[in-house]
Amino acid sequence: MNQLIENITKLKKEKNAVILAHCYQNAEIDDVADYVGDSLYLSQMAAKTNADIIVFAGVYFMAQTAKILSPDKKVLLPNIKSGCQMADMVNLQQLREFKSKYPDIPTVCYINSTAEVKSECDICCTSSNAIKIVESLKTDKVLFLPDTYLGKWVESKLDGVEVITYPGYCPTHLRIKAEDIKKARQAYPNAKILTHPECHKSVTEISDYVGSTTGIMKYAKENDAKQFIIATEKGVYDRLKRDFPEKEFIMIKDNIVCQNMKWHTLEDIYNSLIKEEHEINVDKDLATKALGCINRMLEVSK
Ligand code: 13P
Ligand code: SF4
Repeated sequence: MNQLIENITKLKKEKNAVILAHCYQNAEIDDVADYVGDSLYLSQMAAKTNADIIVFAGVYFMAQTAKILSPDKKVLLPNIKSGCQMADMVNLQQLREFKSKYPDIPTVCYINSTAEVKSECDICCTSSNAIKIVESLKTDKVLFLPDTYLGKWVESKLDGVEVITYPGYCPTHLRIKAEDIKKARQAYPNAKILTHPECHKSVTEISDYVGSTTGIMKYAKENDAKQFIIATEKGVYDRLKRDFPEKEFIMIKDNIVCQNMKWHTLEDIYNSLIKEEHEINVDKDLATKALGCINRMLEVSK
């Protein structure tokens, strides 16, 4: 394993490459990653880097977003199987049908969407800035897609804004049920329950904190509680357990794992660097249109 890490580190230097890793990756990926974080942080890093190659240990839409932000760089996805089921729930035709039912209402797309979808939306958002992005539109109605639960959670946080949502969802986060939260409360009455806004409303409304991957990690770091129940993808739990051994972390239940995120291995990363595969490309016109949608988000999030 150490030899593999050494080889990857050497190749990164030789090829002027950076490795971006989402917090849902297998924790061993952190040993070679230059930046580890949530989807907002990683898109900011992809926009900023001076590297010639970006290796994206995340899912397809993240690598695609990096390519749109850095068109002159080579963007590689180590394991091509890494898609996002939620992003695949809406295509361009479905977006157009949705928009045609509600004409003249601004459309916000979650970053978990394809470049085609981004190219026809007004602005995009991530889970860490969704409230701020919707607020920035200064309107009383927005269309939101694909995640209905994130959209409705944003609505619950804003006064006088109706968020009309598309019926998309994250199958991983929907495995967490209100019943699981109630059981955890009984078993660990002093623990704080931390949840991702992709979870069902019946789950988020009875949690102690709802936030993005980074938001959850920051809350656990700064809060005085000694026990935390983690109600999101297991990668967050793995990193918290490793980084804060003095605190106790309990996974809400087994199998809250996004298999799409877990395909990448250190071997895949090594192969990706050596063979410069799998390169992600986006049609130029499409990329220009999608870039407007992403840049508007980055501008609001500065
Ligand atoms: P974050 O924005 O918290 O990184 O979430 C991305 C994601 O895909 C969660 O399922
Ligand atoms: Fe997509 Fe859900 Fe996996 Fe996030 S956890 S990448 S939303 S399938």
